[in-house]
Amino acid sequence: MVSTIFSSLTLFLLLSSWTQFLCMAGDNMTSSTPLRDDQMGGTLVSAGERFELGFFTPDGRNDGKKYLGIWYYRYMPRTAVWVANREKPVDNSTGVFSLGKDGNLQVMDASGASHWSTRMKFSSFSFSGMLKLMDSGNLVLIQELTNSSAIRWQSFDNPTDTFLPGMKLDMNMTLTSWKSLTDPAPGDFKFQLDGRENQYIIMRNGSIPHWKSAVSGSFLKSDARLWLVSNLLMNSRPRENTTTKGSSYDNLTSTALNYSNTKLVMNFDGQIQFFLWRNVSWTLNWWEPSDRCSVFDACGTFGCCNSLNRIPCKCLPGFQPKSPDNWKSENFLEGCERISPLCNNEVAVESFLELKMMKAGKADDEFDYSYEYECFNKCLSRCDCQAYSYQKAEKDDNITCWIWLNDLNNIQEHLSDRGRDLNVRVPSSTLVKQVCGSNLSSASALDCNDSCTVSLIVLKPKTSDLFLHNLKHCTLSALVKRKCEICGTTIIPYPLSTGPNCGDKMYYSFHCDDSIGQLSFEIAGGNYLVTGIDEELQKFSIRVGDEDCKATKSMGYRTQTNHSWPFNVIGGCDTGFADVEIRWTAPSEPLCSSLDECNDWPHSTCSSATDGKKRCLCNKSYRWDPITVDCIPASKKKRGSLFLVLLGVIGASVIIPCASFLLCYLGKSKKVTGRGTQHANSSIVILLINKKNFNENSESDQLLKLPSTQKTKKAIRGMQPST
Ligand SMILES: *[C@@H]1O[C@H](CO)[C@@H](O)[C@H](O)[C@H]1NC(C)=O
Ligand SMILES: *[C@@H]1O[C@H](CO)[C@@H](O)[C@H](O)[C@H]1NC(C)=O
Ligand SMILES: *[C@@H]1O[C@H](CO)[C@@H](O)[C@H](O)[C@H]1NC(C)=O
Ligand SMILES: *[C@@H]1O[C@H](CO)[C@@H](O)[C@H](O)[C@H]1NC(C)=O
Ligand SMILES: *[C@@H]1O[C@H](CO)[C@@H](O)[C@H](O)[C@H]1NC(C)=O
Ligand SMILES: *[C@@H]1O[C@H](CO)[C@@H](O)[C@H](O)[C@H]1NC(C)=O
Ligand SMILES: *[C@@H]1O[C@H](CO)[C@@H](O)[C@H](O)[C@H]1NC(C)=O
Ligand SMILES: *[C@@H]1O[C@H](CO)[C@@H](O)[C@H](O)[C@H]1NC(C)=O
Ligand SMILES: *[C@@H]1O[C@H](CO)[C@@H](O)[C@H](O)[C@H]1NC(C)=O
Ligand SMILES: *[C@@H]1O[C@H](CO)[C@@H](O)[C@H](O)[C@H]1NC(C)=O
Ligand SMILES: *[C@@H]1O[C@H](CO)[C@@H](O)[C@H](O)[C@H]1NC(C)=O
Ligand SMILES: *[C@@H]1O[C@H](CO)[C@@H](O)[C@H](O)[C@H]1NC(C)=O
Repeated sequence: MVSTIFSSLTLFLLLSSWTQFLCMAGDNMTSSTPLRDDQMGGTLVSAGERFELGFFTPDGRNDGKKYLGIWYYRYMPRTAVWVANREKPVDNSTGVFSLGKDGNLQVMDASGASHWSTRMKFSSFSFSGMLKLMDSGNLVLIQELTNSSAIRWQSFDNPTDTFLPGMKLDMNMTLTSWKSLTDPAPGDFKFQLDGRENQYIIMRNGSIPHWKSAVSGSFLKSDARLWLVSNLLMNSRPRENTTTKGSSYDNLTSTALNYSNTKLVMNFDGQIQFFLWRNVSWTLNWWEPSDRCSVFDACGTFGCCNSLNRIPCKCLPGFQPKSPDNWKSENFLEGCERISPLCNNEVAVESFLELKMMKAGKADDEFDYSYEYECFNKCLSRCDCQAYSYQKAEKDDNITCWIWLNDLNNIQEHLSDRGRDLNVRVPSSTLVKQVCGSNLSSASALDCNDSCTVSLIVLKPKTSDLFLHNLKHCTLSALVKRKCEICGTTIIPYPLSTGPNCGDKMYYSFHCDDSIGQLSFEIAGGNYLVTGIDEELQKFSIRVGDEDCKATKSMGYRTQTNHSWPFNVIGGCDTGFADVEIRWTAPSEPLCSSLDECNDWPHSTCSSATDGKKRCLCNKSYRWDPITVDCIPASKKKRGSLFLVLLGVIGASVIIPCASFLLCYLGKSKKVTGRGTQHANSSIVILLINKKNFNENSESDQLLKLPSTQKTKKAIRGMQPST
């Protein structure tokens, strides 16, 4: 005990030679009063006891490595807002922080080896001044001149990962993340201005954009809370009450939020985080990227992101992964590409896929038009136009029209409050191929006729600017469709069924809400959002509530008790997502009541099957293949999947794609309309433009009426390019 006291006293006496003030930390130091971490009060504390500067070891780290930093005085847990020697911590030696005679700051160990320093050149022979820790958290080097003083360096100009009120973000400033929670070394992420004021970017590994503010440009309004953060970042209040450059207005007081206890941190995991100090702890108020889909270009070009799904990315209908192997291993960077190119003469019908509640990257062009069709025409008139969208202006009846000329990126779906309708240009023949999955050879029943109901509209352009007019109506006699129509961005494979007239009746457990483009799985226990369909593996996933994960069990039970239920719960709720995976059993031959209902199954005839029901049974020397859902030659094991037939097969004919398209869609809507079900509104409109059949007796008005007279929710509009 006595020896402890004695050694303490010795230490005390030794240290007192280093410093003028003991125990009570001051807020400033000069070249004659360096800071040592082995002395009592070896820190600076700002005058109002807001911040403290000294050596520290990050919480959770036990190797004793020490960093010189600034943290909030007495806030627990201690969080550093600035670190000097990020890359070279002081090992088990005394840390020394000094202001040199030349005016430079230096972090050293006991042996005098430098671990960090500033490199400034002052003209005066000997630097006279001091270093002062302000109540704002700013560490300021003040030079005393004959009649005045000047700030020569400040930590606010050299931030690490934290932005404090009073700083000002300029083009030269970056916030660089720590390497990890306990390692202040520069990490992978940098936050900085993105060219203009109020536009921000997080770069990963130097050059890869990880997040950008306002990716959608004027297409969607940006997050309102970003404005709060912008206000903080653009602050232009005078930094300190010292003679410095800079004007003295204070923008922060004009906002509702009191910024005095806030901070913005570039976190080591890639998130920029805005914190408020509330009561006794930091509250995370805003952060970006806010989810997996807010990461810049999370799903690549033409990839559509849904952060709530276990697998967040899928290609839009009409597109396929650029690199299928990477895509399968959930590396979505490369994105998707068109199955068939635009303005390809081989492709007879161009059309748009109308998607609801979508977000997309910045449009390339913006126009002010009086009518929607002008926007549509603008896009059709250019072969490089990938998509269009429009919105009624607030002030007048005009519309704002956006068109995208480059590959779409940053696509997100199901944004209930923020999204917009997006019309993506996809040749309808591509969709026919993907949706009907057939060779189209069975589509023979097109009946182009002026008198029938408006389902197919053939348009003829008057001039090369593709002004649309002269509608011609066609319809079809065939009614049986193999696949159900696309629901939002989801292609529904056979035999899954969203209505009595598509897919296989046994699998009619799905419902498409056309107004929002969402597919749900409906069973006695409830309705569940379908989050993904894997046609190849014959399974799909549904989202259940966290508390509903138990429902999985009852669904599983139902599978065992009800043999006619073609769905098997195969797992879920164990992936961190409240998703349940369900496999569907392979279908047997489709039910039928008349011969032409078997048109979609070549080599089959409608006759009585062993179960007593009438089915499209395969003809002699063919057998039913439940995988390709087709009659295949009995000798061959398996024929190439019909779903992968190349588009080129379609050729330049309008009739075939038109007809088969209708086979897929129109018969259904026609039939269903008669029943007055909810599907009545979901008819499809195809606009065909046929230059060859140009007709002077055009009625251009008809098109103008089209968007309003047609109560179509899911419109596919198209044209035939000139041949
Ligand atoms: C420097 O700190 C001391 C206390 O250690 C204080 O008395 C003095 O006023 C400070 N100087 C300035 C200029 O703030
Ligand atoms: C740290 O101290 C230990 C003993 O206390 C010594 O063995 C080790 O070499 C020291 N490390 C450095 C980097 O000085
Ligand atoms: C300092 O102030 C005095 C009187 O106010 C003035 O005469 C002198 O020129 C000033 N010196 C400098 C370097 O500004
Ligand atoms: C950024 O730094 C460059 C040189 O480092 C300097 O010329 C420029 O004035 C700085 N810009 C701002 C806005 O501080
Ligand atoms: C960063 O880039 C380097 C080389 O360019 C690479 O080795 C490293 O894996 C990258 N790190 C990340 C996180 O992407
Ligand atoms: C701030 O500066 C003004 C004059 O510019 C001075 O009157 C005031 O005392 C200063 N306040 C502090 C806290 O230094
Ligand atoms: C701050 O306020 C000034 C004066 O009121 C104004 O000119 C400036 O645009 C404001 N800056 C920001 C970022 O709001
Ligand atoms: C902001 O909050 C601090 C304390 O957290 C308080 O001292 C200050 O007066 C507040 N400022 C305004 C403008 O309300
Ligand atoms: C914060 O303090 C207020 C009043 O000072 C109190 O009503 C509130 O419950 C506190 N919140 C928390 C999370 O402690
Ligand atoms: C509406 O759009 C037309 C072009 O279609 C334009 O000439 C007109 O100025 C617009 N009106 C307004 C108020 O912007
Ligand atoms: C498509 O249909 C045609 C004619 O019916 C047939 O000759 C051709 O083999 C079929 N192609 C495929 C890939 O099934
Ligand atoms: C046009 O359609 C009507 C009704 O579907 C049909 O009776 C008529 O024969 C058709 N005309 C032609 C030329 O196909």
